[in-house]
Order: sequence, then structure tokens, then C-alpha cells
Amino acid sequence: MDMHPLFRDARALLQRQLGAISQHEVFAPGRVNLIGEHTDYNEGLALPLALDLGTAVAVSPRTDGEVVAVSLSDGQLHHDRFTTQAIPAVGPTGWWGNYLRGMCAEMMGFGITPRGADLAIVGNLPSGAGLSSSASLSIAVGKALLANAPATQVEPSTLAHWGQSTEHRYAGCLCGIMDQMTIAHASPGDAIFLDCRDLTIERRSLPSSWSILVVQSGIRRELATGAYNLRRQQCREVAEFYGLSSLRALHPHLLETLPEPQDHILLRRARHVVSENARVEIAAEAMQRGDLRTFGRALRQSHRSLRDDFEVTIPEIDGLADLVNTLIDQHADGEGGARMTGGGFGGCIVAAVPSHAAQQLGELITKACGQPVYRQSSRSAGAEEAS
Ligand code: GLA
Repeated sequence: MDMHPLFRDARALLQRQLGAISQHEVFAPGRVNLIGEHTDYNEGLALPLALDLGTAVAVSPRTDGEVVAVSLSDGQLHHDRFTTQAIPAVGPTGWWGNYLRGMCAEMMGFGITPRGADLAIVGNLPSGAGLSSSASLSIAVGKALLANAPATQVEPSTLAHWGQSTEHRYAGCLCGIMDQMTIAHASPGDAIFLDCRDLTIERRSLPSSWSILVVQSGIRRELATGAYNLRRQQCREVAEFYGLSSLRALHPHLLETLPEPQDHILLRRARHVVSENARVEIAAEAMQRGDLRTFGRALRQSHRSLRDDFEVTIPEIDGLADLVNTLIDQHADGEGGARMTGGGFGGCIVAAVPSHAAQQLGELITKACGQPVYRQSSRSAGAEEAS
């Protein structure tokens, strides 16, 4: 990871904008969730994959206790400056500097006083695409502040908790912990089988004969926070209705036999979460066996459940998932599948396809919908752009 291609850009930005020489460079990936959507805050299961795309930070210590940060994102320069002598103030929701301030505040709450630092931040994750650019930023900044605090060891799961808390307290999104756990624990090209009840992790390699395609819809999902928080509240309500601490405890057959909540929306929300947990188990086993057909079927079912029961898709995303599934049927003999990924209401489609067909499928998808396709291969196979 020492020679990550983004490190050169981060070092150069630090020198050019802040006149500082980098002492450390750190990287945090983005993630694409293969399956297990809206399960994390229900103590459920998920199978996310870390990407080669992500965020790099170059850091140099300062002696005045200030954090001075510059970030280059989508060709735009952003600046922030605050002191580490007090818990930093929060800016407007959605402002990028809140992620830095939040991570700094979390570190202080943990009993570590960050040293002053110049930070230069560069990334290549599209923002608002549902690939966790904000969690990647938070974890990268956390790693940079820790690299700047000699002899301070922090577990990756602690970093993940700081990142989640930053989203809750500094960005207004009541997210689960899947994104931060993936980014803090997984290497690019590797998946984790994550159990959000006890936060245990099993590393799962992507079979080298599989490729993951990520298709951007071009529809940014930054206005989705309200709908996301509402889903979370509905899940809590239905768990309470059944007298459970979370929906994880609800087994599929129980859902059929228990009295239904009067509000049918709540029943549908529960049905998604319960069936999605079962699909994650099926998909994770299929991945270990290299059974792409079963894996793809689980992805397609997940999409239908997110569309019909959890209602977090939009027509453009449904159309894009259908298109990708049709192309997989036509050009890969139905081996694989596609679905929406992330919180919903825009963002990306994720598809699992045979590596031998990935290049052609990427090109066909771009030709049909005009959107870029990113291709992530397993760690051993390396990664490349499909189109
Ligand atoms: C967002 C949240 C995650 C998770 C997904 C949906 O990415 O940040 O915690 O809830 O949505 O699976």
C-alpha cells in the first residue's frame, strides 16, 4: 500500500497548497456492497467489498495545534482550519469539513489529543454515488491523525466506530456501521462477511474468475438522508411491535405466523430485512464455492426486495438493473446478476459477472446507458477499468 498511486498527488498537493513536506501517507478504500442492504442497523448480515478507489491523505505535523486541511475533489479545492484545543464546531450538514472535525472530536472523546497537522486529501471515488466516499474520507483522516500521533495504536473497529459516530453527530445521517467496518478492515478487492450483531468479520476473497462491475446511474443520492433515517425508524418500530430488540431475531417462518402489524408498510420493511439476511448467507456460501449462478440469483432477488418491500429504488435504477441483468443473460448465459447497491434513491448498480465476459459487458452497458462502468477484480487478479 506504500506506493498507492494517489500518494504522489497527495504529497504534491500538500507541498503546493500548504508548503509542507509529507511525513506520512495513508489510504482508505471506498466500498461496494455486494449484498446485505439495510441490514446493518438491524444487527444483520452483509457482504461488502473494498474497492481500489478511495481516499489518500498526506500529513505533516504542525506545532501550533491547528489542523489545516486542503482537499481536491471533483477538480475543486476545499479548505478547512480548526484548532485541536477544543472540540471543533460543526458546519452545515453535508459540508466536507465536518468529517474531519468529527473524527478529531471522536479521537478526543477517546482520550487521544490529535497533534496539529497539515493535511492534503485526494480521492478518486465519485461523491454521491453510493460508494461511501464520506466514510472513506472519515477513515482516511482518522488514519492520518493517528499516523501523526506517534505510538498511538487504535483497532480498526474503533476507527470504524469513530467514522459512524461522525456521520451521526456531524453529518446528520443515522447510518449503520457496514461502510466504516469494510473500509477500516478490508483490503481493496477483498470482501468481508460482516455480522452486525457482534461485529465479527470473516474475510472472503472474490473468486479470481469473477469480476465485479459497478455502474453509475449518474443520479446523486445526497438528498436521501431523510428517507434513509425514516427506514431506520420503521425497522425499529416493527421490531418493537414484535417485542424484539432488533429484526435480526425475526426468522422468516415467524414472520408468516406472527400477527401482522396494521401498517402494511412495516410488514414489508421487516420482510425485506429478514429475507435479505437469508440471501446474504446463501450468497456468501455461493461465493466460497465459486457458484456465480446462485450468487447472481441472490443479487437479483435482493433488488426485487429493495424495490417492492423496502422501496428504496427509483425507476431509473430499476431500469438500469434490468438492463444489466438482460445483458448478463444474453452475453454470459445468465451467469451472474445485478442489483442496486448502497442506501438507495440513486447511486450505483453492482453486478457480479464471469471475468471472461467482464470487458465486453462493461462496454455493452456503457453503450446502452452512456454511464461509466468500473471493474473491480479480486486482489490476486488486480483491477482495471472496463470502459
Ligand atoms: C448506507 C449506510 C450503511 C447501510 C447502507 C444500506 O450506505 O451508510 O450503513 O445502511 O446504506 O445497506
